[in-house]
Amino acid sequence: MKPFYVTTPIYYINAAPHIGHAYTTIAADVLARALRLSGRPVHFLTGTDEHGLKIEKAAAEAKLSPKEYADGVSSKFRALWTALDVRPDDFIRTTEPRHEETVRRAFAAMLRSGDIYKGRYSGFYCVSDETYWTEKETLAGPGGAKLCPNTDCQRPLERVEEESYFFKLSQYGPRLLKHYDAHPEFLSPASRASEMRNFVKAGLQDISVSRAKVKWGVPVPEDESHTVYVWFDALLNYLAAADSKNAALWPADVHIVGKEIYRFHAVVWPAMLMALGRELPGKVFAHGWWTVEGEKMSKSKGNFVDPLSVTKEFGVDAFRFFLFREMPFGQDGDFSIASLKRRYNADLANDLGNLLNRASDMGTRYLDGKIPEKLPGTPLIERETHVAAGAAAIAAIEKLDFGMALTVLWASVGRLNQWLNEKAPWKLAKTDPAGAAAVISELLWSLRAVGCWIAPFMPETSARIHERIGAARSKWPISPEDALPVAAGSIKKGEPLFPRKI
Ligand code: MSP
Repeated sequence: MKPFYVTTPIYYINAAPHIGHAYTTIAADVLARALRLSGRPVHFLTGTDEHGLKIEKAAAEAKLSPKEYADGVSSKFRALWTALDVRPDDFIRTTEPRHEETVRRAFAAMLRSGDIYKGRYSGFYCVSDETYWTEKETLAGPGGAKLCPNTDCQRPLERVEEESYFFKLSQYGPRLLKHYDAHPEFLSPASRASEMRNFVKAGLQDISVSRAKVKWGVPVPEDESHTVYVWFDALLNYLAAADSKNAALWPADVHIVGKEIYRFHAVVWPAMLMALGRELPGKVFAHGWWTVEGEKMSKSKGNFVDPLSVTKEFGVDAFRFFLFREMPFGQDGDFSIASLKRRYNADLANDLGNLLNRASDMGTRYLDGKIPEKLPGTPLIERETHVAAGAAAIAAIEKLDFGMALTVLWASVGRLNQWLNEKAPWKLAKTDPAGAAAVISELLWSLRAVGCWIAPFMPETSARIHERIGAARSKWPISPEDALPVAAGSIKKGEPLFPRKI
């Protein structure tokens, strides 16, 4: 079976990683883990975007060569993913030979086919965004200055007049529209589709794909006075990585990207693939943006949130959980320690953590720490409902509806808490010890199922739940008829999974 090929953008290495970067990558990791849980082979790619003027400048400031600088920052990203329990199958760097070779070959092929041609570029250039703008697009600044129209940038632009290579994006409009129509899932979520369609319908311009003044990049084949434009270079990472690993990987099943780079992925990238005669990815999904305490994260505000400082206080799993519990994937949301703490205390410390504590305390007290060999013949709990919730959660993750998956799972956790309060086995134990043991066993059965379903979001918590109740790691799918698989261990009392935060 062709592995499901999921990618994140490759990360710019000109800034330290922050929670926005962690968001895209953890999303891909959750998807990869959920698919694996349901038995699908998966290939998950991430990496770093290392060429361009910004890197050249950042390296010069750090008094390093661009490559030395890139090595340092790229390994920081890699280490962060390990620390956040993100487990990619491949990590590509645009400075690797496998990538540069793909870029050279693609550029040369498109030169041959006439999809790339040499022309003159005249307009304005934003060094910070590495983007060219036409005069019409610029904003008027003080003293007649032209400013970058990107609302997050608005820096002064440089006027440029130079020779450049262009990609004939203009000729791909009709084919793109046809593809969008024939593959309604390609532009996802659906709420983003009309913006892309309208952009294409308005008429596409050819885009400049080389830079004469940038030295740190892949030289244009047979014209070393130019380097390949970073975006043209970067997008090809998805293909370079696939082709270097396993010819059967392409096409990608889903590219997960943030909304600000959607146009590159939903318009430019598919047109490049068409020019190269390669298949298009199945889906290009744009997620929303995090602000922090109501503000956009930026260098000038100095309000970047380092994921490691959050996980130091709350743990990796709570952070992974929060990112998807708090805001629907695809929409924007706000990050604050106060809201994280609220979610942590309510959903994790109370709902899940307490439930596990109660179950393991009662298991040690009333079951002597052992999972009964035989569970009661008739399930005491609506196992079907819980099993259906697990299936619904995994299906929601496959649709990248991570928020829905957690909503469904936490409804199950809520029902279990309520059920336990109603059954009150601690009272029942006084009159009907067998009945109490049956209730507790049933609770353990359900907890182990919950432990299985939350694994894509919270891999460590999943393992700890199984460990505490002495159950073997669950296989997916779980059926209501399943016995509770007993591990070598026993039911143990233990530290709270999520100690309350004041
Ligand atoms: N290098 C390009 C991608 C090239 S892919 C061929 C790039 N890199 S980036 O490091 O700037 O951004 C990487 C990802 O982080 C994007 O998906 C982006 O949306 C995400 N985020 C960066 N800041 C973010 C927030 N504040 N909130 C959510 N995600 C955001 O773009």
